[in-house]
Amino acid sequence: MAVRNKYDVDETLETPFSFKHFKRAVVYAKRHTKKMILAMSASMVSALSSMVYPLILQRAFDVVIPSKDYAQLAILTVVTVLTILLSIAMTTIRSRIMTRVGQDIIYDMRKDLFDHLQKLPFSFYDSRPHGKILTRVIHYVNNVSDMLSNGIINFIMDIFNLIFIAIFMFFVNVELSLIILAGVPVFLLVIMIIKPAQRRVWQKVSNKGSNMNAYLQESLDGVKITQLFTREEQNAEIFDKLNMAYFNLWNKAQRISNCVWITVDNVTTWVVSAMYIVGVLVMQPAVSFGTIAAVSNYAWRFWQPLLNLSNLYNTFINGIAYLERIFEMIDEPVDIDNAPDATELPKIEGRVTFEDVTFAYEPPRNVLEHVSFDVKPGESIALVGPTGAGKSTIVNLISRFYDLTGGRILIDGHDISKVTLHSLRSQMGIMLQDSFIFSGTVLDNIKYAKLDATDEEVRRACRTVCADEFIQEMEKGYLTEVNERGSRLSQGQRQLISFARTLLADPKILILDEATSSIDAKTERMAQTALNELLKGRTSFIIAHRLSTIKNCDKIMYVSNKGISECGSHDELIAKKGDYYKLYTAQRTGNLGQL
Ligand SMILES: Nc1ncnc2c1ncn2[C@@H]1O[C@H](COP(=O)(O)OP(=O)(O)OP(=O)(O)O)[C@@H](O)[C@H]1O
Ligand SMILES: [Mg+2]
Repeated sequence: MAVRNKYDVDETLETPFSFKHFKRAVVYAKRHTKKMILAMSASMVSALSSMVYPLILQRAFDVVIPSKDYAQLAILTVVTVLTILLSIAMTTIRSRIMTRVGQDIIYDMRKDLFDHLQKLPFSFYDSRPHGKILTRVIHYVNNVSDMLSNGIINFIMDIFNLIFIAIFMFFVNVELSLIILAGVPVFLLVIMIIKPAQRRVWQKVSNKGSNMNAYLQESLDGVKITQLFTREEQNAEIFDKLNMAYFNLWNKAQRISNCVWITVDNVTTWVVSAMYIVGVLVMQPAVSFGTIAAVSNYAWRFWQPLLNLSNLYNTFINGIAYLERIFEMIDEPVDIDNAPDATELPKIEGRVTFEDVTFAYEPPRNVLEHVSFDVKPGESIALVGPTGAGKSTIVNLISRFYDLTGGRILIDGHDISKVTLHSLRSQMGIMLQDSFIFSGTVLDNIKYAKLDATDEEVRRACRTVCADEFIQEMEKGYLTEVNERGSRLSQGQRQLISFARTLLADPKILILDEATSSIDAKTERMAQTALNELLKGRTSFIIAHRLSTIKNCDKIMYVSNKGISECGSHDELIAKKGDYYKLYTAQRTGNLGQL
């Protein structure tokens, strides 16, 4: 089977130039208008001072040297040195200011992006490779910032340079200048044919880079599984293809770019040579040697702004495409957002009511249909049922990680879609199936949900879930650095830490989704005893495949067929001899060790 995955899919980077995006992006640059004007003024002084140099050259050749006026020659030399120094100083000033402005723009844009990314719903992340998001935040923002800062200034400066160089050149000699202009048609050819090709190939390079990034990111995340299934060779092949695609395009892009330079250099050489031939052989002595030297000097510079402008055009075309991708992310609706008239959920007691709830991740394939139940404050509910039945979905809905397709969920009678997310989620403790550990110390991780918790509070939470002992045994105790994703901890230890983290937040509603699946039975029993105490006064939803864990819950709901097929206490459900009974007896007979 041919390898076909999300990493082969290129982003659209060739879009018509749209002022809409540009205007929107300029807001980021506008904050730095004063600095940019200052930088541009410096650039203009630098450009003007460098334009004086050929005039000095002309005077030196034509007047000063032939008349052996050494005093004036010395003055001209000093003036030349001063103009060069002035030009260097001004360029340095501009570069300093603009580096700062560019970085400021990058900072602001990344901040906006990150703020927004954090709010985007689970569904956004479910559907795209994370590596591509990274590319947008890092690579695209860099590019766009350059367009907004240096791009705008260069655009103005290049037009300025072009006009002034032409004026100075024509001022020195009109006929010779016209010969230089003979190169324009060739130059237009470059701009109209080679440059667009160059732009397109660089866009492809950028796309292939992004694809490689996305694959690399996933491969690093899954490296253990790769090694486990000895998939290294196949993965290397996939990577090789992506890498090769990048390599080939990059080389092609370089060749085309070189082609531009070679052509431009050639054009300049030809027209300047032609100008010399005509100037020296035909027009002399009507034109002086100094004039020829001065025009030649301007001619070498004349193409640069033109070339820059066509480069800029490319930068802008690319930049706009990048902007479109960036704004696409910023505009990605925060589906799960506070309703316009959202109210604060007051301190809750913990009643949870599902009213005819229907939900689909990808409509129309409903995962839940017409689910209704009512959980009283303080009740503990166990959700059991086959894999993929919708247990995690139910608890994700209570925290409003997804919005419903139909029906309502009420907490203490408040519709959760009508209260602020913060007031809702801050009163819930959720431990998801895969407990995520951030890089940092054990303490940082436990305090994640409650930054102002005291060390004693942290320890109490850890003791409750039997995590204190193993944490103390680590080389620096609570201050031990756990690597990214907690890779230096065992799965069970990770679960215990995130357990403590959840408890510390002291939520009214506690959700444990397979929270103890990796903890050994003995530790779990110990934690369970403490937990039973802790669950008092809190509404809790516990999902566990190990039924021993949930036997004592007030109510057990059996989730299957897009809804809750059985509901009651352990004894009731056993007496009913339905699905729960079957599951329970199967576990008892097949897996006695765990019960
Ligand atoms: N992000 C998602 N996008 C699309 N479909 C999803 C998503 N998450 C879950 N599903 C689908 O929804 C159904 C219910 O999944 P859910 O995670 O709620 O099952 P579960 O009962 O928790 O299973 P398990 O016991 O394996 O954890 C499954 O068929 C699954 O394929
Ligand atoms: Mg689940």
